[in-house]
Amino acid sequence: MKVRYWVNYQRIFQKILFYTSLFIFLQCFIACKTKDSGTYKTWEVYRGDDGTNAYSGLDQIKKENVKQLKVAWTYKTGDIADYFSVECNPIIINDILYGISPRLKTFAINAKTGREIWVFDPFKKDGKGGGLNRGINFWTDGNEKRIFVFAESKLIAIDAKTGNQIVSFGENGYVDLNKGLRDYQGTEWHENVGNTSPGVIYHDMIITGSSVGEEYGSYPGHIRAYDVRTGKMKWMFHTVPQPGERGYDTWPKDAYKTAGGCNAWSGLSIDRKRGMLFAATGAASFDFHGGERVGQNLFSNCVIAIDAATGKYIWHYQVSHHDLWDYDLPSPPNLVTVKKDNKLIDAVAQITKQGFVFLFDRETGTPLFPIEEKPVAVSKMPGEQSWPTQPFPSKPLPLCRQHFDETIITDISSEAHDFVLKEAKKYDWGNIYLPPSEKGIIQMPGFRGGAEWSGACVDMQTGIMYVGINDIPNIVQLIERKENIAGEFDNMNMQQAGKILFTRNCSACHGADLKGNGQFPPLLQIEKRMKPDEAKNVIEKGRGMMASFNKLNDEEKNAMVSYLFKTNENKNFIAKQPDSLNTGNNTRTRYSLKDYLQLLDQNGYPGVKPPWGTLNAVDLNTGDILWKKPLGEYAALTAKGITNTGTQLFGGGIVTAGGLIFIGASQDEKFRAIDKTTGETLWEYQLPAGGYATPSTYEVDGKQYVVIAACGGGRQRTKSGDYYIAFALP
Ligand code: HEC
Repeated sequence: MKVRYWVNYQRIFQKILFYTSLFIFLQCFIACKTKDSGTYKTWEVYRGDDGTNAYSGLDQIKKENVKQLKVAWTYKTGDIADYFSVECNPIIINDILYGISPRLKTFAINAKTGREIWVFDPFKKDGKGGGLNRGINFWTDGNEKRIFVFAESKLIAIDAKTGNQIVSFGENGYVDLNKGLRDYQGTEWHENVGNTSPGVIYHDMIITGSSVGEEYGSYPGHIRAYDVRTGKMKWMFHTVPQPGERGYDTWPKDAYKTAGGCNAWSGLSIDRKRGMLFAATGAASFDFHGGERVGQNLFSNCVIAIDAATGKYIWHYQVSHHDLWDYDLPSPPNLVTVKKDNKLIDAVAQITKQGFVFLFDRETGTPLFPIEEKPVAVSKMPGEQSWPTQPFPSKPLPLCRQHFDETIITDISSEAHDFVLKEAKKYDWGNIYLPPSEKGIIQMPGFRGGAEWSGACVDMQTGIMYVGINDIPNIVQLIERKENIAGEFDNMNMQQAGKILFTRNCSACHGADLKGNGQFPPLLQIEKRMKPDEAKNVIEKGRGMMASFNKLNDEEKNAMVSYLFKTNENKNFIAKQPDSLNTGNNTRTRYSLKDYLQLLDQNGYPGVKPPWGTLNAVDLNTGDILWKKPLGEYAALTAKGITNTGTQLFGGGIVTAGGLIFIGASQDEKFRAIDKTTGETLWEYQLPAGGYATPSTYEVDGKQYVVIAACGGGRQRTKSGDYYIAFALP
């Protein structure tokens, strides 16, 4: 009897064991299928994988056959917008591609044919929305499927099957990103907080950074997690610390009430196994003068490791202290594995606008190559206390020039050289971290990088990073602005006051002469395009890359409209005291940036010797730069025999197991396939508009596709388009 019982127990035990293992196996199978753990064959998240490495294990398209690549389909979104580009890296789930249009519509199309399935427009009213959006998030519990998208200051959930907004999400169908960042009492101060990059999905939460303003008083860019079903906030990490929190003492007392920025605008990466979230933050605001934020300013310009489940701090490393140059960390940290002293180390790699690559141990934040704090020039600006040192990694060496002097002034022609020399002599120049001044400095590299939002792709088989780098100087010149002095606006009519307010708030983009500035539209003869009320509406709500100016009071807004439309000449301006920022202080001197300017020659080419944009291969194991190649050309210069200049780059590359890097990004509007070993271009395609986005690659029915948004425009100032183009072998 005893024996029989024993046998039965054993059988039952075996059965339990069998079913539990089957269960675990199935769980893992499902998880592996959806999370693509380690195979890199899908493109279900922004930049391909949780570590944002834009690497694909697909190898059907390879060095040997890439020359045969043909257009497989083209999708036109039908809503071209002049002033912005599409920077979207589309995701592909179950053979459906989800992307974003120039006017921020979300769409679902068949990934094999490009045939439209649905389109969701968050701006149903005027169809004039727009702005930057680099991607979207997908979430499923196996049954329900949701797409998350940011538009204006809203986080919206969409039913992935129908394209309908999920109205039960958040309040009235969305999460208002403005809420909870700062409860500023007693004023109308209000900002439109948006987000230009997607979040990450973790444990039924969507975790996200934000894009906030860069002005005095702008909101802080705290990192937040929301429940994917309800939109309820689950946790918030204060990137501008509050009393009692780590880093609070790196700011003036109570600065958190007014200081802002420090936002992870470029996206996040996540190590699911360790439950660690990685963020890279931007500068503290105001960006170019830190008189109101004396101190080191944690957690601005930091790589931060955060417990993804709770939002608790794990470690940080600050890459620029008390930033005065808008050297935001421009892309999410790359989660990579490197080999050092024959040991595999899970690491974090961070590229910067300065052209540095920082490498840290993923668990502890310990640098993998020594970093030296070196003394830098001291600011002489009133009120400023620049930080005495800045970190310089010993390896890899900088990927762009970090010094400006006469020897690097452009030599493409003697006219260009003389023109730039004359211009440059108006300003101070020298090494990186030369502090901004009223005379103005030549900032090298400029605040458009070095590296930019386009980030770096990393070959997960070799640990080699490929990154597009700009090598173009900016001019940073501060202007004093005396604010809110009692009587400043005495005896002024609406137009006169409007002009002062316009210079203070708007001219950095629209130009003091209203003629616009590159990517920013002119406002001359605005009356031919819109009514005063419509203009006021733009000022209040913001539009596209223009933030809302609702912090200004009604009289101030009306004054600017009067200035733009040349009306109300006989109406007196009535100043509200104290001003709309309500500091309780009647006088104040602040400094703002005169203009967002690059140092250019008489024809608009960069003011330094080429190359102006390069693609670089960096071995993260050894820290060595393997190759560096100019990317792109200007046809007008090529015709004169000036070749291989590279152009300003905006757009990411991806690297594949087929041995290729696919990248658009260059101003010549070409899409290229590059040999990852040599840097040689093997195939190129002239896009109908610039490909200023990061491509995606995926497989449907055994065929590999590479797709890129080709919408031009934006910062690159080339023609606009509305294309998504997919390529495959015939
Ligand atoms: C950060 C740069 C920036 C700043 C600062 C800025 N704008 Fe704009 N503005 C833009 C961009 C970009 C657009 C175009 C948006 C679009 O595509 O419709 C725009 C559009 C406008 C328009 C509509 C123009 C048209 O032809 O449709 C008006 C009016 C305007 N801005 C007024 C202002 C005023 C007044 C201020 C200051 C209070 C201001 N802007 C500050 C970037 C800026």
